[in-house]
Amino acid sequence: MNKDRKLIIAGNWKMNKTVAEALDLVHGLKRELASVKEVDVVVCPPFTALSEVSRAILDSNIRLGAQNMSEHSGGAYTGEIAAVMLKEFSVRYVVLGHSERRQYQKESNALIAAKAAAALTAALKPIICIGETLQEREAGATEKVLEGQLRGSLASLNKDQMEEAILAYEPVWAIGTGKNATADQAQAAHAFIRRTLAGMFDEPTARRARIQYGGSVKPANARELMRQPDVDGALVGGASLELRSFSDIVKNSI
Ligand code: 13P
Repeated sequence: MNKDRKLIIAGNWKMNKTVAEALDLVHGLKRELASVKEVDVVVCPPFTALSEVSRAILDSNIRLGAQNMSEHSGGAYTGEIAAVMLKEFSVRYVVLGHSERRQYQKESNALIAAKAAAALTAALKPIICIGETLQEREAGATEKVLEGQLRGSLASLNKDQMEEAILAYEPVWAIGTGKNATADQAQAAHAFIRRTLAGMFDEPTARRARIQYGGSVKPANARELMRQPDVDGALVGGASLELRSFSDIVKNSI
């Protein structure tokens, strides 16, 4: 395997974990992953746990991500969180356009592009999620859907900004279902994403782009998925909520 891109293994905890539970998990992760240098490990707790988790990981190699942010820099937007507020807790990454937010909050590609621009302006690395539904896959529309999401969600980014951004391919049918994309399916989608990026930006930018896979990543399938040449990391949901499974995913990815 010849990968010049360092893997990023990120845990998206979604709407889970009280502060006490979050601290319990990160203290365990610090112990388990103390010697891991080969991958960047990121945890994405809910907003309410960012402050405490941030303090707990200060002296570790674990980095902090948020699960969403506003496209606005501040003002009269009740219930929203601005990039500058995340920065207070040393947040470095922010998940944007997760399929759950596309579905339940009706987030559009245009909104995600605006959020990505706001994140990059604040020097946060956006992890921009794309992925097809089962219906779209079965209709043979996977590539068309991915291309539309890429062109829409990255519309605000120039080449330099793309270097800072991260993509996550998360087929909707694989999220929380226990049914992951096979290594071949993931590789084919990631290669297509990289080709599309080459057309939108240029070859070197596409080659350097980080493309994570998400959707039922587990210790048992992490190795095979991470071995694919165009898979540069993982965005893990359910299996990142538990110490043993998340640390095993990280270790199996090395
Ligand atoms: P699962 O790992 O639970 O399938 O979730 C994936 C995901 O949505 C990560 O953002």
